[in-house]
Amino acid sequence: MTRGERAYYQQRAPEYDDFYLGTGQFAARERPGWHQELEALQSLVSSIRAEAVLDVACGTGFLTRHLRGRVMGVDQSRAMLNIARSRLRRGAVAQADAFCLPFRSGAFDCLVAGHFYGHLTEPERARFLVEARRVAARLLIIDAALRDGVAPEQVQQRVLNDGSQHAVYKRYFTAEQLARELGSGAVLYGGHWFVAVMA
Ligand SMILES: C[S@@+](CC[C@H](N)C(=O)[O-])C[C@H]1O[C@@H](n2cnc3c(N)ncnc32)[C@H](O)[C@@H]1O
Repeated sequence: MTRGERAYYQQRAPEYDDFYLGTGQFAARERPGWHQELEALQSLVSSIRAEAVLDVACGTGFLTRHLRGRVMGVDQSRAMLNIARSRLRRGAVAQADAFCLPFRSGAFDCLVAGHFYGHLTEPERARFLVEARRVAARLLIIDAALRDGVAPEQVQQRVLNDGSQHAVYKRYFTAEQLARELGSGAVLYGGHWFVAVMA
């Protein structure tokens, strides 16, 4: 992600959960089946068995709070982390860069990244996977699903509640495409809105 995109997430933190909850700007969006899929995704996250789990780019902790085990959430944005910290009953959060994680090799059984991988360009995705695999034995990548009529790769013009505009790179995958890219990945969820692959 570019510096501008990272600043966008810092600014977006207080309104980020509108995306999940269908509130604020997202109230006007037609998203049939969204809430059912989100429930299924949350159940999937809570079903992951691992002693030590790292959620990279955890944002507000909306998904992180469903993880079990010893949970650590990291993000580059302090505003995101403040929300995540207040939300997580168990677990800790810390500011860190996803490409240079401050953990020893093999420190985690599982690394989770929700709606982060699909914001990385191809070279960034390759670089992230090397770092992710250094610290964790398994990776759970969750992202937005590629849907009919949606361009797989795009730069979106996003608007925040204050009217500010931000260019954000987005790459959408079907569950199978994501599993292929991750290499020997198992599709754990392939919905209309979300995909989740364990690799
Ligand atoms: C779309 S949000 C996803 C938040 C959360 N994982 C979720 O599933 O809702 C992307 C997150 O990536 C974080 N981020 C972007 N670049 C990062 C980096 N290099 N290191 C750590 N976090 C980063 C942003 O601050 C933001 O919280």
